[in-house]
Amino acid sequence: MDRSGPVLVFDSGLGGLTVLREARYLLPYERLLYVADDAAFPIGRWPEADLKARILALFEELVETHRPKAVVIACNTAFTLAGDALRKAHPAVPFVGTVPAIKPAAERTASGLISVLATPGTVRRTYTKTLIESFASQCHVRLVGSDNLAELAEKHLRGEAVSDEDLLPEISECFLERDDRRTDIVVLACTHYPFLANRFRKIAPWPVDWLDPAEAIARQLVRVLGDSAATAPSGQHDRAIFTSSPRNPALIRLLAGFGLVL
Ligand code: DGL
Repeated sequence: MDRSGPVLVFDSGLGGLTVLREARYLLPYERLLYVADDAAFPIGRWPEADLKARILALFEELVETHRPKAVVIACNTAFTLAGDALRKAHPAVPFVGTVPAIKPAAERTASGLISVLATPGTVRRTYTKTLIESFASQCHVRLVGSDNLAELAEKHLRGEAVSDEDLLPEISECFLERDDRRTDIVVLACTHYPFLANRFRKIAPWPVDWLDPAEAIARQLVRVLGDSAATAPSGQHDRAIFTSSPRNPALIRLLAGFGLVL
């Protein structure tokens, strides 16, 4: 492991910031580099072969240029598709992935009815189906692929109006009643969605546990870094790179709230 590089946190847009803020809390001295492939956003609707090729090509460049000490793929859509290939292509770099939190949901549910709210891509993945077969075969798992939520989460985060009428149709399929049982856990299987969790709580037909894996991912990063975790301030700014090279003041302000310089 090259110990001098930053920890690179990757997503297609702003969703990976839900993971970055947990990593920052657990690893206060670690130098973080946030990379958003926003030129491709939203990636949930991309054909698998094109998206995989794009992610692999982008990481050739990112690993070469930034020599990261570790990489967090803070995106279910990207990791469930390209995680194995990225690890193979860069065996010297530790990768921490993000996958739908189906295992913890299956361990916690009382009703046995779980929903997984994700992008259309994550819902289609073999990886997701294998997680259900391996860890939740005793549960009824409903997969709900939303076309619009990642974009709505970005609008909400940028301070633009997102109405309850916009959100409700995107989540309503998650709520299932069977005999006298109801869905009691909804897995937030897109890193954008935790930004909307308080809105979801307000409009949900009944209370459920909205499972956000961000803290568990940050804990996994701590384990992977082990004693190579930084123990003193780096003296450098944490930076963010967006592939579309935007220079808008609102984004600069928003990123500053996460301790990042664009
Ligand atoms: N944040 C990403 C995820 O966790 C996907 C957002 C997108 O559709 O680009 O799946």
